Amino acid sequence: MLAVILAFAAVSARAAVLNVTDIQGSSFASPLLNQAVTVQGIVTAKGSQGFYIQSGATDDVRVSSGLHVFSTSATVRNAVNVGDLITVNGKVQEFRSQAQYLTVTELGSPTNITILSSNNTVAPVVLGVDRSPPTQFYTDLDVGAGGFLATPNNASQITVVNPELKPDAFGLDFWESLEGMLVTIKNPVALNFENSFGEFWVRGDYNVTGLNEHGGLTMTGNPDGSPDMNPEAVIIGSPLDGTKSPTTFMGAQFGDITGVVEYTFGFYYILPLTAPTLLNKANPVLPTTVIEKSEDPCILTAGDYNTENMSVNSTHLPTVADQILNNLKAPEIVFLQEIQDDNGATDNGNVSANGTMQKLVDTISALSNNTINYSFIDVVPVNDQDGGEPGGNIRVAYAWLADKVTLVSGTAGGPTDANEVTTDADGLLNLKFNPGRIEPASEFWSASRKPLAAVWEKVGAPGQRFFTINVHFTSKGGSSSDQGDARPPVNGGVDQRAGQVETMANFTKSILALDKDASIVTAGDWNEFVFAPSVFGGVEGVLHDLDEVAKVPAVERYTYAFNANSEQLDHIFISSALADRGAKVDHVHVNTHAVSFKARISDHDPSVYQVNVCKTKTPTPPTPPSEPECAFKTGSYCAAPLPPFTDAKGCLASVGKCFSESIECFTKVPLASTPQCLKFQAQCAKDSLTCATCLTGGKCTGFP
Ligand SMILES: *[C@@H]1O[C@H](CO)[C@@H](O)[C@H](O)[C@H]1NC(C)=O
Ligand SMILES: *[C@@H]1O[C@H](CO)[C@@H](O)[C@H](O)[C@H]1NC(C)=O
Ligand SMILES: *[C@@H]1O[C@H](CO)[C@@H](O)[C@H](O)[C@H]1NC(C)=O
Ligand SMILES: *[C@@H]1O[C@H](CO)[C@@H](O)[C@H](O)[C@H]1NC(C)=O
Ligand SMILES: *[C@@H]1O[C@H](CO)[C@@H](O)[C@H](O)[C@H]1NC(C)=O
Ligand SMILES: *[C@@H]1O[C@H](CO)[C@@H](O)[C@H](O)[C@H]1NC(C)=O
Ligand SMILES: *[C@@H]1O[C@H](CO)[C@@H](O)[C@H](O)[C@H]1NC(C)=O
Ligand SMILES: *[C@@H]1O[C@H](CO)[C@@H](O)[C@H](O)[C@H]1NC(C)=O
Ligand SMILES: *[C@@H]1O[C@H](CO)[C@@H](O)[C@H](O)[C@H]1NC(C)=O
Ligand SMILES: *[C@@H]1O[C@H](CO)[C@@H](O)[C@H](O)[C@H]1NC(C)=O
Ligand SMILES: *[C@@H]1O[C@H](CO)[C@@H](O)[C@H](O)[C@H]1NC(C)=O
Ligand SMILES: *[C@@H]1O[C@H](CO)[C@@H](O)[C@H](O)[C@H]1NC(C)=O
Repeated sequence: MLAVILAFAAVSARAAVLNVTDIQGSSFASPLLNQAVTVQGIVTAKGSQGFYIQSGATDDVRVSSGLHVFSTSATVRNAVNVGDLITVNGKVQEFRSQAQYLTVTELGSPTNITILSSNNTVAPVVLGVDRSPPTQFYTDLDVGAGGFLATPNNASQITVVNPELKPDAFGLDFWESLEGMLVTIKNPVALNFENSFGEFWVRGDYNVTGLNEHGGLTMTGNPDGSPDMNPEAVIIGSPLDGTKSPTTFMGAQFGDITGVVEYTFGFYYILPLTAPTLLNKANPVLPTTVIEKSEDPCILTAGDYNTENMSVNSTHLPTVADQILNNLKAPEIVFLQEIQDDNGATDNGNVSANGTMQKLVDTISALSNNTINYSFIDVVPVNDQDGGEPGGNIRVAYAWLADKVTLVSGTAGGPTDANEVTTDADGLLNLKFNPGRIEPASEFWSASRKPLAAVWEKVGAPGQRFFTINVHFTSKGGSSSDQGDARPPVNGGVDQRAGQVETMANFTKSILALDKDASIVTAGDWNEFVFAPSVFGGVEGVLHDLDEVAKVPAVERYTYAFNANSEQLDHIFISSALADRGAKVDHVHVNTHAVSFKARISDHDPSVYQVNVCKTKTPTPPTPPSEPECAFKTGSYCAAPLPPFTDAKGCLASVGKCFSESIECFTKVPLASTPQCLKFQAQCAKDSLTCATCLTGGKCTGFP
């Protein structure tokens, strides 16, 4: 009996030495959570938060063989060198710094670090060679119409479900399966500027989706209609050795990066062993719109720009003016958002933005040597009621060229006046307030900008009225991390935005109820992606996405760069009558393509677009289905078309066919019509003379 007890004690004292794979397991959380363990592995990297070890991999790709040994103690860190094969005791824990994040599997409270050998090497997993990330979905918990953007948000949590990893199908599962491991990302390309911590998103030398012309990755639609959030992208964190990464930009190329995969600050990172090397410079030339002005009075060329908290003394105001003039080529109407009151963030009760707007148009006028003079209008908000930077009183505003377009004469509304569509004595549609806000009392506009509806005519196209609605829907503030615990992630403000879009859509319906062919343009900062069904369902069947109408390639639809993604928050939606007449749009990437984060002047890119505001007075009847072309027709008889030709041989064949058809003619038509067939035959005979011309080297084309 005693012998048995002693033997048990001996086994217990020499607890089994585990491999890292035993700790990581095949799902997100460790199967050994909170257990005291002894684990062995080779030290791959050291950082300020401890070090990383890696053991032999199993052939199960779900199971990571890397592990963070967590300690802030320099003594612990100095006890090991990269390449040491060690055993270490500690407690398995799942760490997270914020409740909305995923957890990191770690070995906490490391003790009894024993070095078994030194100078061992661990081959990094080469991304694109050994393993490649999936390109479309984050997790199979993002379910419902719209996937990642489905509502309700936060229907489940990864830490609760703790799913078995499917690294071939889902991005979060893929990166989790490499947690703590050494990886190399070959030929990385930056997808955005660095963030305020010097971290930056990249894609590697592997298959990607959504690649745009500038080298970034655009959020596009998956075949099921949900957004593709580009899970193949990964963020490069601060170098573990304390060096600093260079500043970067979309499309920047880097030398290969080797580092450790770690979930931190809400995302899967690669923490590089040392600072990555930037290989190229940014192109300093910013794009200019490809949309050319039109002299046709029916064509409206308009622009849209969220100018990011712009007030009188904003240092970026002169650049905004320069871009409107030179990069957007002075559109006839500019829909502006985030125009602040004259004193910006000073919260003194002054809400007028006349100073801001006057300075903008004066600067454009000066830059153009007084050739481009914009007029402007807005509706002052009630102080501090429309959200945005406190005291800034951001609002939407219009600037327009009075020699090109006329704001139909009327009275501007006040901040609480609700606009309505009206009918003039001559039958033309008008607005009660021009411009005026839409349903300003609606609960959906609480702490948010009210849309501004206006009615216009192009100079030279009197009576061809068109309506514009300048929008800035509520922001995504309060969203949870794309790679966080809540699935689908919390999409800040989504319900309020859905109500706002529906309110705006109802207003457009009130215009369309009086004239289903009304020309209506709604443009601005929607703060949402078209893949969000609960928001964009509100305009379905009423308004059309101009990017769709203009057939802009899906990868070039972006006005914003956030984290890894080039994405579209700014949209232009138009009524059916406008869509039927065709349209153009150009997203002018003056900010997402800037040389540096510092050089960027707004978080949004402006757009330029063109629509035809004239209703055709006498609508062209639909073209009847085209009848087969006849070489010769009499009654219901139709001789087949004669083949065209360019040489004598083709000419003779064509004439031969003409003759045989003329003979057929006699058999197919009533006797009374046979003289017509004779005429046909005479024509064939005449045409055969052309062949003679061909044969002697003369003109020999077509069938006369
Ligand atoms: C750890 O992994 C290595 C390599 O796969 C294997 O040889 C060894 O037996 C494993 N050790 C334990 C304790 O599982
Ligand atoms: C998601 O829901 C869970 C359970 O109700 C809650 O604990 C968590 O805080 C929510 N997450 C977010 C980001 O709102
Ligand atoms: C410390 O580690 C060594 C080597 O793995 C082992 O022999 C020893 O039993 C460990 N001591 C404790 C108290 O775990
Ligand atoms: C390990 O490498 C270091 C530096 O490369 C060298 O100084 C040391 O002698 C090596 N140790 C062994 C045991 O090979
Ligand atoms: C990458 O894409 C190409 C073309 O679609 C395909 O043939 C290839 O198998 C893909 N490679 C990987 C690693 O998925
Ligand atoms: C803008 O700056 C000028 C010059 O510094 C100053 O006089 C003026 O008061 C400022 N305007 C506002 C609205 O802050
Ligand atoms: C608001 O601005 C106007 C015009 O600059 C100025 O006359 C007025 O004193 C300001 N009002 C307040 C409350 O600052
Ligand atoms: C702003 O300009 C409009 C039109 O030019 C004018 O009616 C209004 O009084 C101005 N507001 C202020 C505060 O100067
Ligand atoms: C304005 O005039 C200056 C000086 O004559 C000239 O250099 C500049 O090109 C002109 N700019 C425009 C937009 O006409
Ligand atoms: C623009 O305004 C300036 C200053 O009022 C004026 O001199 C100039 O003639 C105007 N230009 C046009 C094209 O109307
Ligand atoms: C503009 O205001 C918003 C809302 O307060 C803020 O989040 C953003 O950082 C501001 N941008 C700049 C450049 O000040
Ligand atoms: C839009 O109009 C429909 C039909 O009148 C109504 O049921 C709905 O409540 C309106 N939506 C909003 C947000 O006002």
